[in-house]
Amino acid sequence: MCGIVGYVGDRQAAEFLLDGLSKLEYRGYDSAGIAVYENGKIRIEKSVGRLAALREQIKGRMPVGSLGIGHTRWATHGRPSDVNAHPHADCHGDFAVVHNGIIENYLSLKEDLIAKGHEFKSETDTEVVAHLLEEVYAGDFVAAVREVLRRIEGSYALAFMSKEHPDMLICTKQDNPLIIGLGEGENFIASDIPAIISRTRRTYILGDGELAVVRKDGIQVTDRAGQLVTKKVFEVTWNAEAAEKGGYEHFMLKEIHEQPKAVRDTMSQRITNDKKAISFEELAWNADYLNSFNKIYIVACGTAYHAGLVGKYYIEKLARVLVEVDVASEFRYRDPIVDGSTLLIVVSQSGETSDTLAALKESKRRGAKTLAITNVVGSSIAREADQVVYTWAGPEIAVASTKAYTTQLVLFFMLALYMAEIKGAILPARTAELVTQLQEIPSQVSEILSDVEPIKTFAKQYGFNEDVFYIGRGLDYSVSLEGALKLKEISYIHAEAYAAGELKHGTLALIVEGVPVIALATQRNVYEKTLSNIKEVKARDAVVIGIAAEGDTELQKYVDHVIYVPATDEFIMPILSVIPLQLLSYYAAITRGCDVDKPRNLAKSVTVE
Ligand code: F6R
Repeated sequence: MCGIVGYVGDRQAAEFLLDGLSKLEYRGYDSAGIAVYENGKIRIEKSVGRLAALREQIKGRMPVGSLGIGHTRWATHGRPSDVNAHPHADCHGDFAVVHNGIIENYLSLKEDLIAKGHEFKSETDTEVVAHLLEEVYAGDFVAAVREVLRRIEGSYALAFMSKEHPDMLICTKQDNPLIIGLGEGENFIASDIPAIISRTRRTYILGDGELAVVRKDGIQVTDRAGQLVTKKVFEVTWNAEAAEKGGYEHFMLKEIHEQPKAVRDTMSQRITNDKKAISFEELAWNADYLNSFNKIYIVACGTAYHAGLVGKYYIEKLARVLVEVDVASEFRYRDPIVDGSTLLIVVSQSGETSDTLAALKESKRRGAKTLAITNVVGSSIAREADQVVYTWAGPEIAVASTKAYTTQLVLFFMLALYMAEIKGAILPARTAELVTQLQEIPSQVSEILSDVEPIKTFAKQYGFNEDVFYIGRGLDYSVSLEGALKLKEISYIHAEAYAAGELKHGTLALIVEGVPVIALATQRNVYEKTLSNIKEVKARDAVVIGIAAEGDTELQKYVDHVIYVPATDEFIMPILSVIPLQLLSYYAAITRGCDVDKPRNLAKSVTVE
């Protein structure tokens, strides 16, 4: 996720660009840049770090000009740095481009362009767009952009400017948001409404494949075929704060709803072209490498630790390698048995969690090979680990982790499949089957999110006032732990998760009339066993809400309510079954009037011990 802005009019472009970007930092904040048409040239100013660093860089020497584009970055290809910051230009500085998304075929395009003599400055996928534009340009800016769009694959929102056309910007989108703000004698481009709301409330929302030529006195929108599109004006009625949350009441809810895209982006480029297998270009592992270690440790904190528990299950079950999971604050002080035949996988959304970083350093010191799974490119953990795979969830602002968790599960599942393929532990037909199911996840998550009313009602009805128990077996148990943590941290309700079979070893004493129990029953191999445990709590008059796969007609006979999620392979169920749990916590917290995005005593990134 990145933020894009553009300005064309009579006022100073830089002022709007910087102001607009400041409202888009929630979309990314590892570097920022602007390009302004100044004295017959395109002047680009960019800097690693937050927008403040860019402001400092141009203090007293603001670019002067009334046409420009800007960008705030959340790195995907290439670490955060001055050169990797957008805008990007071609060899001669004739064009500038800003981009949000991923150009999937950038490597082959880059090779071609280098062979034709283009010189690249950055490690980004975006720079190929600028060079490609230079390559195909023959005097007609719009035609050249269309030709570029024909050649690139992937997701994007793009804005272009050309030295030879100082009166216009071109923008277009595919799978990433882009809006045009309609002013008087000036027009604006932005990834999102907060960037323009101080200047205008009248907007066009661009559709996929649409291309807009934006001048100060007019906007022309055409479709992929070049046919004119008549756009309806969308009048923004929200205030600026609500706009930043995309109309959602809280970042947490917005991030819950971003999960289909976050999951899709995380899978992108890691599924082979024939859609039958998994490949991690960034790892390039082989059988010798995998056979060089006899144990894997997964080490993390909080939600990331819960993702690690699911990861253990995936890797052991699919790749048949022994995995231990530990919380980083324990691992680092317990003299762990780690040596050259250990692979340490650390998981961290922020990439900055101090205990996780310390565990990583300690393991490296003992000779382990290390892999980081993180959401922040260039973070301390990403830099420290031998190898890194990124979750492409985009910035997570709410303290309670949601989309980071689901993307971590997706990555673990893909990693386990990848290892199993290399080790020959899985039949290609089975991999293909699982990869097919994997690709269904975004639409299945959307399906769950399309009807949250029953979940809202449960949260209100039961109030969840004192103690809530979450039970499940196998993968359902791991998800229960995450469900209980979500409830605790944002609604301050005491919640505990138990392996369902453990209840009778003590906890059953706490189950009395009216105690809410959330029972997950999505795993077939332990289904009957879970059902027996559900009957045990029902016999003590607990109120039981079951979570099951669509088509399950059994569970409803034994519980008070069932929340159904789409049926899929059991491996994938955790990625779906956690969504109602996130929503239950969210609505329970709302019912209790809690500060959902900033729960008491908690910080987003725990960089101290
Ligand atoms: C809970 C939550 C925390 C984090 C934990 C680790 O919703 O967000 O439990 O998961 O603090 O943070 P990262 O993943 O940044 O290392």
